[in-house]
Amino acid sequence: RSDSLCETGSNTRADSLALPAPAKLNRMLHIVGRRPDGYHELQTLFQFLDHGDSLHLSPRPDGEIRLTPALAGLDAEDNLVVRAARLLQAETGCRRGADIHLTKRLPMGGGLGGGSSNAATALLGLDRLWRLDLGLDALAELGLRLGADVPVFVHGHAAWAEGIGEHLVPVELDTPWFLVVHPGIPVATPAVFGAAQLTRDTPPITMARALQGGAPSWRNDCEATVRSLYPQVAEALDWLGARAPTMLTGTGACIFAWTDTQAEAQRIAADLPGHFTAFTARGANLSPLHAALGR
Ligand code: C5P
Repeated sequence: RSDSLCETGSNTRADSLALPAPAKLNRMLHIVGRRPDGYHELQTLFQFLDHGDSLHLSPRPDGEIRLTPALAGLDAEDNLVVRAARLLQAETGCRRGADIHLTKRLPMGGGLGGGSSNAATALLGLDRLWRLDLGLDALAELGLRLGADVPVFVHGHAAWAEGIGEHLVPVELDTPWFLVVHPGIPVATPAVFGAAQLTRDTPPITMARALQGGAPSWRNDCEATVRSLYPQVAEALDWLGARAPTMLTGTGACIFAWTDTQAEAQRIAADLPGHFTAFTARGANLSPLHAALGR
C-alpha cells in the first residue's frame, strides 16, 4: 500500500484511543491432529469476557513505537503489541508512530489470550489511529503471523474455530457468569503441545454437534496433560470442580467455572485458597473491543 493511504505529518490532529483488550475462554477444545510443521489442528469454541487488559494509543509523528510500562521478563521489542505495530507499519508503509500504554490485568501464560488480545487491539486501534482502513480480514491475516489466537480477537465475535484457530465461524453461545481462577503459576504453551502424553486424535465433529452438546459435555483435551505437568493447576481444578462445573481454558494455567449469577461466582470466590487469585466476568459474544470501536 502506498503511504498516501496513511495519515502522515503533524497537520492532522488524530485523537488518542483508549481500548479494551478482552480475555477469551475456550469453552471446549479438541485436538484433532498435528500438521507437518508441528502445530496442532484444533476444534474450539472461543468466547470473550467482559474483563481484560486495556491499551491507550496516541499518535507520534516521528514513526517511533513506544510501549509503557516495561513488563517483567519481557523485552518491549518481543511484546506482541510492538510486533503488531511494526508489522502494520511494514505492511502499509505508514510512517506514523504511537505511544502505547498497556494496563495489564490478564496473567501471562494464563490461557486467557492476553498477549494475543493485546496484539489484536493494537492492530485495530492503530488501523483507526493511522486511518489505514484495512478490513478485518486483512488485519486477521496479519494477526495470524503473530499468533494462532490473534485472528479471533481481530474478528471480534464468539466463534467455532478450526485449523490452528484461523478458520472461524461466528456463533452465539450462552453468556453465563464465570469465575476464573489463576493457580498462581504460568503454563508454557509449547511444553503442553510438545508433551508426549498429549492426545492428538480426537475424532473431528461438526460445529452443529459441538453446539448441540452444550456446556455439560464440553471438554478440553489439554486438561489431563496440564494436570500432570502442573500440580498447582490440578489442585485448582480439584478445588473449583468440587464447587461448580469447571474447565481449563487453552493450555491453562487458568481454569473457569460457570454459574448462573455473579453472586454465585462471588460466593465461591469468597473461600478461595490464598495462593490462588480469581475474578468474575460475564461471557460476551461481541468482543468489548469491537463494541468500543463500533465495528
Ligand atoms: O501461535 P502461538 O505463538 O500462540 O503458539 C505458541 C506455541 O504453541 C507454538 O509455538 C506451538 O508450539 C504451540 N501450538 C500448537 N498448535 C496450535 C497453537 C499453538 O502446537 N494450534
